[in-house]
Amino acid sequence: MSKYIVEGGHRLKGEVKIQGAKNSALPILAAALLISGNTVLHNCPDLSDVRAAIKILNFLGCRCKQIGNDVYIDSESVTCNAVPNELMREMRSSVVFLGAILSRCSMATVTAPGGCELGPRPIDLHLKAIKELGFSVNENGGNIVCKRERYPKDTEVSLDFPSVGATENIILAACISKGRVVLHNAAKEPEISDLANFINKAGGRVYGAGTDRVEIIGVNKLYSVEHSVIPDRIVAATYMSAAAVTGGEVLLYDIDNNHIRAVVGAFNEMGCTIKTDKKSLFLSADKPLYRIKTVRSTVYPGFPTDAGPLLVASLIKARGTSVFIENIFENRFNYIGELRRLGADIKVYNRVAVVEGVNSLHSAELSCTDLRGGAAAVVAALASDGVSTIDKICHIERGYESLETTLKELSAIIKKE
Ligand code: EPZ
Repeated sequence: MSKYIVEGGHRLKGEVKIQGAKNSALPILAAALLISGNTVLHNCPDLSDVRAAIKILNFLGCRCKQIGNDVYIDSESVTCNAVPNELMREMRSSVVFLGAILSRCSMATVTAPGGCELGPRPIDLHLKAIKELGFSVNENGGNIVCKRERYPKDTEVSLDFPSVGATENIILAACISKGRVVLHNAAKEPEISDLANFINKAGGRVYGAGTDRVEIIGVNKLYSVEHSVIPDRIVAATYMSAAAVTGGEVLLYDIDNNHIRAVVGAFNEMGCTIKTDKKSLFLSADKPLYRIKTVRSTVYPGFPTDAGPLLVASLIKARGTSVFIENIFENRFNYIGELRRLGADIKVYNRVAVVEGVNSLHSAELSCTDLRGGAAAVVAALASDGVSTIDKICHIERGYESLETTLKELSAIIKKE
């Protein structure tokens, strides 16, 4: 089991090109299954979750390979409509292959997805909507078997909660079809818009992505397409956090500032100096950080739940008391116990974390609890005196293409063992 060894206490300084967004690349790779031809995907991050998606595509009969940040997919012939448990369990995002397989094959067999232990991670909203689109859904022995019983003709679906994955699954399940689907209370995350842009470039008809009302008009086929994945807004927040908590400065480029407004607002409030240009952002923590009274995670365009652990890690040495309220996942705070090992003063009351800034932190042996919690542990170790270790870094490698290399380029002292 690999681990990071981090010598804290050094200011980070330098430039970072932000990788393509994991949470955009994954649903787009599922959408590639719909293409009767070839897909070329650029700016696709080289991650274990992406490799898991590629394994699923190849299992279903596509010919798919990644070379650097380019992925080439030939999905002319899809020979299978079932994803085995061992492939489904590798990540959360495997669940969106359900919608893609249904669009292409009209029937699908999957199992419950894997992913971070942020809570029960149910898929009830996905399955309820899939039924409303005209598919039967039968669950037996861990398998979920769905079959097209009728086309959606003219269907209105409303999500009880603007679930990102459920929105993606509905778009994927409805885009090759006969009929029109209007989805209400859709998720508005930028990754949804990127998925819709990909589908529309291939001849699909998805309108209103990025708003809470998405209209999908089914088409017969989707055609060969080339697309570049949007930048990863959470990875951007991660490097902002590492620079802020070490009193350093960082220039992020190849980012989309429109996607990180809530995050920028929070770092401004804690006292960072931030300058943005078209596709870049400069952050400097040239004076001691101070507390943020209250931050609440919520759906886009509000403060993203995934950036919560990174924000908390930025505030552990800020002056005063900060309050972070988590409104999306039940178990988002699993990582806080790890930050406490470094001497952080954080109390948790259900979904509320109260951070009392401390003057210094000491080294410790840490473990990654999940993807963003693991990144937060690395960020906090960078701000601690002495040498810390962080193990179970496989969690981090699901979402960060080159965290260790990039941090080294920013003058951090970190190595992988
Ligand atoms: C996506 O997860 C992201 N993952 C998550 O990022 C992100 O935190 C989340 O959206 C919220 O923005 C990917 O895109 C691969 P949801 P997803 O469905 O789709 C409940 C990361 O770090 N819910 O919007 O699973 C659910 O339990 C990951 O990159 C149901 O109850 O998120 C949660 O409490 C972590 N029933 C809330 O909704 C359902 O059927 C939000 O879930 C579906 C969801």
